[in-house]
Amino acid sequence: MLIQIETVLTPEQVARFQAALDTAGWADGRMTAGYQSALAKNNLQLPDSDPVARALGAEIERALAGNLLFQSAALPAQVFPPLFNRYAGDHSFGTHVDNALRTLPSGLRLRTDLSATLFLSDPEDYDGGELVIEDVYGAHAVKLPAGSMILYPATSLHQVTPVTRGVRTASFFWIQSHVRDDGARALLFDMDLALQRLRGEVGDGHESMVALTGVYHNLLRRWAEA
Ligand code: NI
Repeated sequence: MLIQIETVLTPEQVARFQAALDTAGWADGRMTAGYQSALAKNNLQLPDSDPVARALGAEIERALAGNLLFQSAALPAQVFPPLFNRYAGDHSFGTHVDNALRTLPSGLRLRTDLSATLFLSDPEDYDGGELVIEDVYGAHAVKLPAGSMILYPATSLHQVTPVTRGVRTASFFWIQSHVRDDGARALLFDMDLALQRLRGEVGDGHESMVALTGVYHNLLRRWAEA
């Protein structure tokens, strides 16, 4: 399931991110690619030790911690510290699948259940640069306003098409979810959204609300890994 999350960052945050990233120390993006994806990858990236990357990444993590839609959709157990990339002058990233495991700064490994791209450039500032994600329903081209994010299963083949004008800057990272299976996680997300709508109509105390909220939590208990 592809899930769009709007305004993860406010316009004020986006402007500050853009200014900080314009003067950051960009390097060859192949430094974090696996063997196969290094062949397809042609972009710039901030080293993960870069102080700008660390400060902005921490700000993204704080925004996600308070974002109810993200919490409901991803059921995050752990979020990889956000990385930053930049495409200009025909940079692209050919079709690939992200690595299954990523080493965290702590040395522990994170299993990549979900991939995330947080757009940081305004769409009118560049041509091309669509994130094209393939799923069972076909290929979906994604290009979102600055500050908005797409979440997609890390099992998906995806690519970034060449940027033929302007500059496309984004943050990208992965999430290990409490619910590993994408189908099970999608069911829980659908149910949570329906419960939120129902709460608005009948109130929290309604007998069926109590029962259905119990079913949600008992499904989560059945499927969750701590
Ligand atoms: Ni990727």
